[in-house]
Amino acid sequence: MLISPSLLSCDFANVQRDVEMLNQSKADFFHIDIMDGVFVPNISYGLPVLKAMTKHATKPMDVHLMIQNPDAYLSSFKDAGAHFLTVHYEACVHLHRTIQAIQHLEMKAGVALNPHTPVSLLEEVIDQLDLVLIMSVNPGFGGQKFIDSSCKKVEKVKELIVKNNSKCLIEVDGGVNLETGAALSNAGADILVAGSFVFKSSNPIKTISELKEL
Ligand code: DX5
Ligand code: ZN
Repeated sequence: MLISPSLLSCDFANVQRDVEMLNQSKADFFHIDIMDGVFVPNISYGLPVLKAMTKHATKPMDVHLMIQNPDAYLSSFKDAGAHFLTVHYEACVHLHRTIQAIQHLEMKAGVALNPHTPVSLLEEVIDQLDLVLIMSVNPGFGGQKFIDSSCKKVEKVKELIVKNNSKCLIEVDGGVNLETGAALSNAGADILVAGSFVFKSSNPIKTISELKEL
C-alpha cells in the first residue's frame, strides 16, 4: 500500500519538524490539502506554505485542490512543487481540458469525487487520468468519520480502470485508520491518505509502517 499522510493535521508551529519526521518514515508522498473557503467551508493554507514544505520534503508532493476555478492556479502549483495535482470533478466545467493542462505542465493529473458524485461520470476520462481520489468524507476538515459506502465506490473505480485498460491509481481520503484502511485495501485502493490517524498517534512513524502493511 502507498501512504500519503495529510499535513492538514500536522503541527503548524512545527511544520519543518513534521516534514522531516515524514522524510524518515515509510510514507510515499506528502498529501497537501488546499482549501479556499468557497468550494469547501474551510480555509487551510496556500502556495507559500506548500513551497516551504517542498523545500524540506524528500518525497513527491500529492496536492489536493479543494478550490473553485483550479485552472487559474495550475502553473503556480507546479512551481510550488506539486507532483500529483488533483482537482475536484465538481469544480471543473471543462474537466478534459483541465486534465490536459495539468499533464502539459508535466504533473500527474488526478480527479477527486465527493461522496455524492457517481464513479460513472469518469467513464470518458479514465484512460487519461493518473489518479482518481475517492473522498470518503465530505471535504473540508480532518478527523471526520469514514463513510462506509466508499469501499463500494473504490470497487467501481477498479472495474472502470480494468475495463478501460487504464494505468490510473486509486487514492482514498478521509477517516482512514487501520480498520477502514484494511477494507479499502481489499476493495482495490492503491494509496491511502491519513491525517489525524497519523498525527494524533503517539508514534506516527510506527502508525505509517502499520498502514503500509495493509
Ligand atoms: C479532507 C482532506 C483530507 C484530510 C483527511 O477534506 O481532504 O485530506 O486531511 O483527514 P483525516 O485523515 O483526519 O480524515
Ligand atoms: Zn485531501
